[in-house]
Amino acid sequence: MGRPSAGKHTSPARVVLAIFMLILGFALVADFLWASSSKFTSSYLNVATNWSPHTSVILPINPQKGETVEVKNEKKDVVPKRVLPATFQDLPAPELKWEKMAAAPVPRLDGAAIQIKNLLYVFAGYGTIDFVHSHVDIYNFTDNTWGGRFDMPKEMAHSHLGMVTDGRYIYVVTGQYGPQCRGPTARTFVLDTETKKWQDMPPLPVPRYAPATQLWRGRLHVMGGSGENRHTPALEHWSLAVKDGKPLEKEWRNEIPIPRGGPHRACVVVDDRLLVIGGQEGDFMAKPGSPIFKCSRRNEVVYDDVYMLDDEMKWKNLPPMPKPDSHIEFAWVLVNNSIVIVGGTTEKHPTTKKMVLVGEIFQFNLDTLKWSVIGKLPYRVKTTLAGYWDGWLYFTSGQRDKGPADPAPKKVIGEMWRTKLKLNP
Ligand SMILES: *[C@@H]1O[C@H](CO)[C@@H](O)[C@H](O)[C@H]1NC(C)=O
Ligand SMILES: *[C@@H]1O[C@H](CO)[C@@H](O)[C@H](O)[C@H]1NC(C)=O
Repeated sequence: MGRPSAGKHTSPARVVLAIFMLILGFALVADFLWASSSKFTSSYLNVATNWSPHTSVILPINPQKGETVEVKNEKKDVVPKRVLPATFQDLPAPELKWEKMAAAPVPRLDGAAIQIKNLLYVFAGYGTIDFVHSHVDIYNFTDNTWGGRFDMPKEMAHSHLGMVTDGRYIYVVTGQYGPQCRGPTARTFVLDTETKKWQDMPPLPVPRYAPATQLWRGRLHVMGGSGENRHTPALEHWSLAVKDGKPLEKEWRNEIPIPRGGPHRACVVVDDRLLVIGGQEGDFMAKPGSPIFKCSRRNEVVYDDVYMLDDEMKWKNLPPMPKPDSHIEFAWVLVNNSIVIVGGTTEKHPTTKKMVLVGEIFQFNLDTLKWSVIGKLPYRVKTTLAGYWDGWLYFTSGQRDKGPADPAPKKVIGEMWRTKLKLNP
């Protein structure tokens, strides 16, 4: 298998890229200024419904080109629309046959999931913006039923957790404690899935919101995420030696910081390398002074970056995703040396500024280091929880779009779906 190299050549392509990045930088600053000047105080879960259905401000999508074209919308009338850059559009993807399975006992958003053999353990999450779950539900892929509900420790975070398993023990790191846009806790736990018993682990040095978390070379690694205000990207990276559900050390060790911080990324260990995929900088924050920590919207930048650590212990870049993708921390599976990622969110809509959900399935083939788009979901969905069993790709939970014509988030779901997974060579 080819190892990616991080060679340092200066080619004409790189110079062009640098100039492009500079222009992009200006565009982002302009975009940020625009976003900060408008009102983004809608609540976290109801953003889509609180927005005006009509666009009151038209921004040039692509000032260099200023294109407009005629596009047929869902209502079959012809309206002039600007061409959107590819990142905001659904990418061309094969249609898949989806089968609707039994829905989870509760809908959940920003929960967590861990698959161990034929069981998918589904944790925590918002039920509504003012109510968070504090229990685990289990889906059995053999008979396709839900069951086995049990409680989480009272002190455990309810959303935006870091979570990973060694095949029996599930390590649960930090995350947001409570509903709305409360801050994170540093508390950390381990679950023995055979006895359903929880134990305490040493807390993180400081609380983190939705950090990337994995087990690698006998250590529990936690990196990135947001700081305590939920918004400021954090670069820190810590690790703790663990074995069979027990910490072997009393304190977390500092590791090489991640080049780009932020929450909601997929983190995968494969072939003795650690990968961190997608994610974003910024997130909703509590409105200053709000006694209920009411969520208020802040600027977010979603990215397509893929970072890798190998035995050199230096971060390297791998080929980026087909489009920026965030809210994918538990939306991936690893099958036949490919990482498969289900849905997510991409950059906000350039005109309406609404959050745009992702309706595609991506494959990252680790033999060829090539990304491809391998299918369409039944709808666009973020923070969905994915599993793979016996040829079937499953997903459940998260927040889906308003409909085929509107990629903004709406309903929090508990639905479970599956399709036969077909990978590209
Ligand atoms: C999962 O379902 C299979 C088939 O019904 C059953 O044999 C197995 O005991 C179930 N596992 C759990 C943990 O419930
Ligand atoms: C994975 O590889 C096995 C062995 O080559 C093959 O039988 C199976 O169909 C592959 N699975 C997928 C989803 O491609």
